[in-house]
Amino acid sequence: MYSAKTLMLNNGVEIPQIQLGTWLINNDDVRKVIRQAINVGYRAFDTAKDYGNESGVGKGIWNSDVERSDIFLTTKLPTAVKDYKGTKKAIDDALDRFSLEYIDMLLIHSPQPWIEVNRVDDRHFEGNLENWRAMEEAVKAGKVRTIGVSNFLQEDVDNIVNNGSIKPAVNQIEVHIGQVPTELMQYCEELGIQIEAYSPLAHGRLFNDHKINLYAKKYHVSPAQLMLAFDLQLGCIVLPKTDNIKEMKENLNIDFKISADDMHDLVELKENMQTMAI
Ligand SMILES: NC(=O)c1ccc[n+]([C@@H]2O[C@H](COP(=O)([O-])OP(=O)(O)OC[C@H]3O[C@@H](n4cnc5c(N)ncnc54)[C@H](OP(=O)(O)O)[C@@H]3O)[C@@H](O)[C@H]2O)c1
Repeated sequence: MYSAKTLMLNNGVEIPQIQLGTWLINNDDVRKVIRQAINVGYRAFDTAKDYGNESGVGKGIWNSDVERSDIFLTTKLPTAVKDYKGTKKAIDDALDRFSLEYIDMLLIHSPQPWIEVNRVDDRHFEGNLENWRAMEEAVKAGKVRTIGVSNFLQEDVDNIVNNGSIKPAVNQIEVHIGQVPTELMQYCEELGIQIEAYSPLAHGRLFNDHKINLYAKKYHVSPAQLMLAFDLQLGCIVLPKTDNIKEMKENLNIDFKISADDMHDLVELKENMQTMAI
C-alpha cells in the first residue's frame, strides 16, 4: 500500500510518494479540497504561484486538524521571474499568501518563462542561477526546507549542479504511460535527483485507451490506479489531481504490483500512444 509511503530525498528530507496536484482547482474551492484530502489521508500538496490558488491551499492547511509539520507543501516560482531580487521577493510573497512560516519544497517551475517554451532557444542559464542563489539563501534562512526544479532538461540540470552549492532534490516532469522520458529520468537518478511525475493520469486523456483498460481489468483496478501504479513502480513521486473525494481515495489506494513483463509492455506504449489517445 503506497498511501503512507515516503521517500528520502538527497538532503535527508522525507517526502510522501503520493501527493495531491492542485492545478485548475480555483482559490475558493481549493481550501475545502485540501481539507477533504487531509481527511482521507493525503499529507502532501503540489501548487504553484501560476495556479493562482496558494492562499486557498494555505487556508486548507492551517484550518486542518493535522500538525503543520505532518504536511509537505510544494510550490513553484513564477516562470517570468529570472532575477535574484525578484526571486527573493517571490519567495516572501508566497509565504505571505500561504500565511505559513515555511515552504517544504520550492521549485523553479520552468527553465524558460511560459511565453518562450517551444518558441525560443534561450535556456536562461544565468537567470536560473539567479533563481537558485535566492532559493539557496531561503533554505539557509529557514523559509524553505528543500529546493528543486521542474521541466528541466539535462543541460538545465547540469547548469544548476555545476554552478550551485545545493543539488536539486527533485526534477518535476511529465511522466505517465505513453510519456516516459527514460534518458532524462536515468540521468537524474544517477545524480541523486528524485523524479516527480506530473500529469500522472495524462490529464485524463487516456482513460479510454484500449490497452490501459485491458491491463486495468487484468489487475482488477481502475485505469487511474493502473497509471499511478506504473509511475510509482518507476520510482516516481506522483501528483494526481482531483477535487472528487471518491477519486482521491482511489488514487491513494494503490496496493498491487504490475509484473515486470507488463511494465515493459507499458513502457513501450509510448510510441503508439498519440494515435490511441482520445
Ligand atoms: N510542473 C509542471 O509544469 C506541472 C504541469 C502539469 C501538472 N503539474 C502538477 O501535476 C498535477 C497533476 O497533473 P494534471 O492536473 O495535469 O492532471 P492528472 O493528475 O494527470 O489528471 C487529472 C485528471 O484526471 C481526473 N482524475 C483524477 N483521478 C481520477 C480517477 N481516480 N478516476 C477518474 N478520473 C480521475 C481528474 O478529474 P477530476 O478533477 O474531475 O476528478 C482530472 O480530469 C497538477 O495538478 C499539478 O499539481 C505540474
